[in-house]
Amino acid sequence: MSADDSNSLESDNNKPRHIAIIMDGNGRWAQKRFMPRPMGHQAGVKAVRKVVEYCAKQEIEVLSLFAFSSENWRRPQEEVSMLMSLFITTLQREIDKLHRNDIRLRFIGDRTAFPDKLQAKIAEGEAKTKDNKGLTLVVAANYGGRWDMCQAFRKVAEKIAAGELESQEITEELIERYLSTADLPEPDLFIRTGGEQRVSNFLLWQLAYTELYFTPTLWPDFDQDSIEDAIKSFKSRQRRFGHTGEQVLNKAVTF
Ligand code: IPE
Ligand code: IPE
Ligand code: MG
Repeated sequence: MSADDSNSLESDNNKPRHIAIIMDGNGRWAQKRFMPRPMGHQAGVKAVRKVVEYCAKQEIEVLSLFAFSSENWRRPQEEVSMLMSLFITTLQREIDKLHRNDIRLRFIGDRTAFPDKLQAKIAEGEAKTKDNKGLTLVVAANYGGRWDMCQAFRKVAEKIAAGELESQEITEELIERYLSTADLPEPDLFIRTGGEQRVSNFLLWQLAYTELYFTPTLWPDFDQDSIEDAIKSFKSRQRRFGHTGEQVLNKAVTF
């Protein structure tokens, strides 16, 4: 990790720069209420709004939300099309508001598989907010960590084939430049709601040193208190990045 994009020891005990969330439990939230699963997704959008507002207000630099995984196409067709419509209507409703709040919207994932209307909304949201300086809101849609690495490796291979790169020049830093999160700090805090304790093909490369936090709270119930609990847990941890606890305490290292 280079010195300029790194966390100092001070920032280690302060707020995270980048929070990445797997928003899980929408379906179960609805089922518990004898409602159809789509209502859980709708309720989930409200939780997204709350968390985005909170992160913007707290001056968190990056919030990454897993909205649709590359494996979620395996769901019943009606649920998939309902989610596509929900993404479109949510973007329609929220782009201007995000822009007014100086939020920069970014999508990661293979968007070419989405309906044209959704691809157009994504492009519109990104273009409109691209120069904003507040929170960067990264939405992972048709995203998979393995896909991200594959597309990066493919670009590196193309450079080699074109004679612009030698295989000996492949380093971690070089690969990072081709990942979809290239210009963003690595996630400091990973949150998964809904009780499952797995990564489900989210930011695989980028999570190498992220602090993991799992909560049984279902995503639609996740609110300001819930995110504050997660941040509190983060602040209580000692990040060592391979050093000893003593080295960290003596401030003999910077990350
Ligand atoms: C997460 O909630 C939202 C998406 C994957 C789109 P789920 O829909 O996975 O909710 P559960 O896990 O079935 O409760
Ligand atoms: C992960 O949740 C993907 C999103 C939240 C978008 P899933 O509910 O799809 O994960 P698995 O299938 O239970 O691992
Ligand atoms: Mg789930």
